Amino acid sequence: MKKKKRIIEELARKYRDGAIPPCRHFGECGGCLFQDISYENQLALKEEYLRAELGGVCDVKAVRASRPFGYRGRMDMVTAFGRSGLRKRGSYRRVVDIESCDIMQEKSNTAFMAIKPLIAEIEDYDYLAHAGYLRYVVLRQGMYTGELMLNFVVASHENRLAGLIDALPEGVDSVSLLLSDGRADVSFGEPFETVRGGTIEERLGDLRFSIAPNSFFQSNASIALPMYEDIRRMVRGRTLDLYSGVGSISLFVAGAADSVAGVEVNPEGVAMAERNREMNTIENARFVRADVLDYLRECDERFDTVILDPPRSGMHPAAAALLSRLAPERIIYMSCNPSTFRDDLGALAGYRVEAFEAFDMFPQTPHIETLALLLRR
Ligand SMILES: C[S@@+](CC[C@H](N)C(=O)[O-])C[C@H]1O[C@@H](n2cnc3c(N)ncnc32)[C@H](O)[C@@H]1O
Repeated sequence: MKKKKRIIEELARKYRDGAIPPCRHFGECGGCLFQDISYENQLALKEEYLRAELGGVCDVKAVRASRPFGYRGRMDMVTAFGRSGLRKRGSYRRVVDIESCDIMQEKSNTAFMAIKPLIAEIEDYDYLAHAGYLRYVVLRQGMYTGELMLNFVVASHENRLAGLIDALPEGVDSVSLLLSDGRADVSFGEPFETVRGGTIEERLGDLRFSIAPNSFFQSNASIALPMYEDIRRMVRGRTLDLYSGVGSISLFVAGAADSVAGVEVNPEGVAMAERNREMNTIENARFVRADVLDYLRECDERFDTVILDPPRSGMHPAAAALLSRLAPERIIYMSCNPSTFRDDLGALAGYRVEAFEAFDMFPQTPHIETLALLLRR
């Protein structure tokens, strides 16, 4: 991780070109690191970084551009020390009071600005002393539906938000209170009160997806859509989608596959995937709640294609070995972390990289999303 940080810092120095950051919080806020680099140069920087990381194993070409601003489908605003916003650059202990965020979608920005004075009335949570009430305000927005969700992550099982909730602006489709009473600083929790809605929808192509407070959904739908279209072109036959979340990839590609089985550890994700399957009337997909490692240990089915979209930590090494034993013809690997992707490729020695592409899922930040098609040697 340290090596990656050093390379990124060196590349940022090389590509920094005096672009004028549009956001008033740039420099202080830890959310964006690249607003003083033109978007063209950000893409060149990421391409060079990927060459350094993956040059020997993948044919790295230009990184596919996205919307440079206003793209995020989820922002987690921390409420602590009398402020609500994002962590200060380089400091976990300090919070920058955010007035507006240029990578957040416009409707979310407007809603956040409207509720900020109301948030200030509520006791926040000191995550260093572990005392207080309101820990996070999470804003989630469907890019193609405009539907907006607000989740209030609180430290005790009580609703102290009545005044705020009464004054919520128009156009907020879902409002939930989530309980997070542990010491871990997390922006999700057990939903214990649904004030409005409970879910929002996003649309990708012809499909609709329901999203619940804790379920994962790709952060930038404008680039997830072309990635999913690529995945659909790569899929053949009986397909297994590992780390399937709310089933978005499984359902998106189902029309190109004989059948799809999605595997996901989060029960809420599996329930939403099942609901999404029904909502889109897809007959040839099914979802299993399981840890990928346990599923692969038990699996005695044959699959032609396996799709992988693991969390940043990548696959468990034992899971890569079991997958090799399952021996699908093709593996489609979507990754948000080039380092763990490279490690996993090393463990999948029986496969060669047939195609590779990178996508700028997270403009203004060092993060990159990649997609690879691996074929059995
Ligand atoms: C990067 S997300 C991908 C979600 C989905 N493919 C999508 O596009 O929306 C990773 C998902 O893997 C799930 N996950 C993490 N570790 C897992 C494990 N060991 N077994 C099964 N699922 C896991 C997470 O809950 C999350 O939904």
